[in-house]
Amino acid sequence: MNRTQTTAPVRIGIIGGGLMGRECASALARWFALVDFPVRAELTAVCELDQSRLDWFKQVPTVRLLSNNHHEFLANPGIDVVYAAVPHHLHESIYLDVLRAGKDLFAEKPFGIDLESARRVRDEAAKLGRFVRVSSEFPFFPGVQRVFQLARCGALGRLLEIRAGFHHSSDLDPSKPINWKRQNKFCGEIGVMGDLGLHVAHVPLRLGWRPASLYAQLQKVITQRPDGKGGTAACDTWDNAIIHTNTPIGDYTIPMTIELKRMAPTEMNTWYLEIIGTDRGARFSTKEPKTLWTYRRDKEQVWERSDLGFATIFPTITGAIFEPGFPDILQQMWAAYIAERAGQLGDRFGCATPDEAVASHKWWRAALESHRTQSVVAST
Ligand SMILES: NC(=O)c1ccc[n+]([C@@H]2O[C@H](COP(=O)([O-])OP(=O)(O)OC[C@H]3O[C@@H](n4cnc5c(N)ncnc54)[C@H](O)[C@@H]3O)[C@@H](O)[C@H]2O)c1
Repeated sequence: MNRTQTTAPVRIGIIGGGLMGRECASALARWFALVDFPVRAELTAVCELDQSRLDWFKQVPTVRLLSNNHHEFLANPGIDVVYAAVPHHLHESIYLDVLRAGKDLFAEKPFGIDLESARRVRDEAAKLGRFVRVSSEFPFFPGVQRVFQLARCGALGRLLEIRAGFHHSSDLDPSKPINWKRQNKFCGEIGVMGDLGLHVAHVPLRLGWRPASLYAQLQKVITQRPDGKGGTAACDTWDNAIIHTNTPIGDYTIPMTIELKRMAPTEMNTWYLEIIGTDRGARFSTKEPKTLWTYRRDKEQVWERSDLGFATIFPTITGAIFEPGFPDILQQMWAAYIAERAGQLGDRFGCATPDEAVASHKWWRAALESHRTQSVVAST
């Protein structure tokens, strides 16, 4: 019998029922797809300011509380864990309110609008002893897990280089109206690095790879956008960031290049990771979501392609021959959060920690400084 049917559920509440709030609801609604998962999880409450967005959640049968006031929402004893998916300028205040209300937190990236904000949330969570993790789902693709394992076991030989990145093309159209993600006061001065960066930093950080120094090239491409009311508004966030790092790994300093772009023609949510050594190498991209590329140096040097199918960390009812997509790996990330909170993660890959989020913020802070001074700067 599936053990998920026998235990009391972890009761989850969402603050921010926009793009990611709805994705979260969808991942939780099909929790039964996880096979033999030890803990049940159920969406019980939602807090959202916009009434039509809030009403959308009425179709989720387990939701008992709909609120437009997060203080009232947090006073409800029927919530164990809060997933907060709100604009970045609200991260710190809402995350702190969640922690002080005695709830555990699944935070969204970048975990505070800047480095200081991230540190304050991390420190408060530690002080109060709350379980906090930060959303970053791409490492839960089976292909990424294989790249991670190859890098971790030292099979690659002497490392030559690492390339990691996240490319979008969604901002190329200059007539796209402004939104909060394109304005420093809501998104943060780190711009695209806050939007896409933790996804890319998560695996290197988990491998213990922390750049000692870096040089960053940042671009603002479209600086005015329609404001949706007949006028224009300043679009002042960084659109693209190319960050060249010096990363100490073992006895050597390895070049790790990180690319974070909202202006990458033809790309839609392309997250990639490539780690190359003298003996072996591995490459994964969401362009080919079921495919792992591995390099080996034999008599000849070859790249080999394997189709991995649905080899997810947590087994599901989905057949092994099928391919995973974004909603599937989001559910895998949620499974990792719930399993780790229950002390049942074992040696499986876990969600990004507050320390990792703070570490990533240090990279973005250094990147701003590097671009401003046009020099290589320390990033630890
Ligand atoms: N993990 C991912 O893949 C991923 C993808 C996109 C965005 N994000 C992150 O998720 C977060 C939210 O992004 P989004 O794309 O869902 O934004 P969104 O604009 O679609 O949704 C945010 C929602 O928060 C609501 N809100 C604002 N203030 C509120 C308050 N005080 N109480 C309740 N609700 C409030 C807004 O009305 C809006 O509906 C950000 O941190 C963003 O970086 C993560």
